[in-house]
Amino acid sequence: MMFQELCCENKNYRNLINGKWQETSSGKLIEIKSPVDDSLVGRIQSMSTEEVDFAIENAKEAQKSWKKVPVSERAKVLYRAADLLEEEVEEIAKIMMREVAKDKKSAESEVRRTADYIRFTADAAKGMEGESIPADNFPGFNKSKISVVTREPLGVVLAISPFNYPVNLSASKIAPAIVAGNSVVLKPATQGAISALYLARVFQEAGLPGGVLNTITGRGSEIGDYCVTHENIDFINFTGSTEIGRRISSITTMKPLLMELGGKDAAIVLEDADLDLTVKNIISGAYSYSGQRCTAVKRILVIDKIADKLAEKLKEAVTKLKVGNPLKDQVEVVPLIDTKAADFVEGLIKDAKDKGATLLYGGNREGNIIYPTLFDNVNLDMRLAWEEPFGPVLPIIRVKDKDEAIEIANKSEYGLQSSVFTKDINAAFYIADKLEVGTVQVNNKTERGPDHFPFLGVKSSGIGTQGIRYSIEAMSRPKATVINIEQI
Ligand code: NAP
Ligand code: G3H
Repeated sequence: MMFQELCCENKNYRNLINGKWQETSSGKLIEIKSPVDDSLVGRIQSMSTEEVDFAIENAKEAQKSWKKVPVSERAKVLYRAADLLEEEVEEIAKIMMREVAKDKKSAESEVRRTADYIRFTADAAKGMEGESIPADNFPGFNKSKISVVTREPLGVVLAISPFNYPVNLSASKIAPAIVAGNSVVLKPATQGAISALYLARVFQEAGLPGGVLNTITGRGSEIGDYCVTHENIDFINFTGSTEIGRRISSITTMKPLLMELGGKDAAIVLEDADLDLTVKNIISGAYSYSGQRCTAVKRILVIDKIADKLAEKLKEAVTKLKVGNPLKDQVEVVPLIDTKAADFVEGLIKDAKDKGATLLYGGNREGNIIYPTLFDNVNLDMRLAWEEPFGPVLPIIRVKDKDEAIEIANKSEYGLQSSVFTKDINAAFYIADKLEVGTVQVNNKTERGPDHFPFLGVKSSGIGTQGIRYSIEAMSRPKATVINIEQI
């Protein structure tokens, strides 16, 4: 019932603008077909630049009143949204499974995790306080001056989300932005937009005033540049590929950016690693959702002495992965998001084969399903050593010692996360200290959560820091009011 408004007959989905579900005046639509079976999931509106203007204008207007709403009241909307989302786990997960080919368990856990994220954001915002700074800490000043520092919203936040977590990576922008007093214009990935529209409906039903959250749909290649350079956008929170992230940062001026981009996360395996724990983590880290996660394990750097043993155990584990149709079975390896993505991964596999890597398992393709693929003896001349597949392909690169592992890990243009598998805490810290990444995981796969931890990429993997409190801080600024006391 709750979702009736966002879709009219014939599966045509509308956009939330100024609190109403609206269609484009041109009637131009984009068909969203399922990567699983090519069936029609629905059609989304292809908005014109004039319609984008209208959505942004509404966001700007609505923010003027929203910023005056007390934080505790903004938090109440978030608590209601979290509760409603939990009630709709199954329905939203069902859409997501069809739209982005996610398996049932992962889709449902994405929605539940998002409800927890929203609730925690409300808690965090209520716990955030300003500070007062006395002047006499600084040489030459006495107590007659004091700075009262509070936090202010930035204005209109443009949230651009990717296909792979259409609900979670939209909500993790929307919730911290609105609790900080901003309004939001959400531009979801085209493939994934329907799932994101369900989320917008949940925020509306939770009582978010009209205009505080607006959605824009249309191809990024058509309206993306227009949105990011729009004069009334005050902040851009983007998650997606490094290619598009670079483009946005090159065409925008004086706009603050928060960007989470691509990665080539390495799992560094030392001689003393617990191999069973290592294999379990690497397999789920590399292959779940077909490796379509920014934090997926995307290369293994293993000390030569234990490489044979590790390769053997990985090969055994990879053969057990379930591959197929996520609408029918609980599988780990699903069809990739589109044919272009599958072609790209196939190209990486071919390059590795042609250049002499040892194919331990997989390497084959059926439609857009790339079977889980494991290569050993990958060398630094192969594309697989450096490029992000966003697919279920994992290269093993053998190294002589930990310093060589660090050197190769840091040669990557990316710097999202790395794992180190070892029982030696000194070695773990030695490596962690030298890795040029946002996060180092010791004895665990690379991953974003828990969502209140800081999450960031360095080099080509991002700008700024996400994570609940960090995101609220990123989308607000300090405001200093200096009190000058005459006699003290
Ligand atoms: P993408 O192709 O970069 O698209 C991301 C978003 O940008 C989509 O909403 C897309 O819209 C939009 N877009 C496209 N062109 C644009 C432009 N010129 N201006 C503004 N927006 C534009 O990425 P994706 O394929 O959805 O996701 C996969 C990539 O995202 C991978 O590289 C992955 O590593 C990265 N990722 C990173 C993280 C992280 O936290 N570090 C998380 C998830 C994904 P359309 O869909 O309409 O083109
Ligand atoms: O795809 C990028 C996500 O931020 C990764 O999140 O580590 O929870 O899968 P995850």
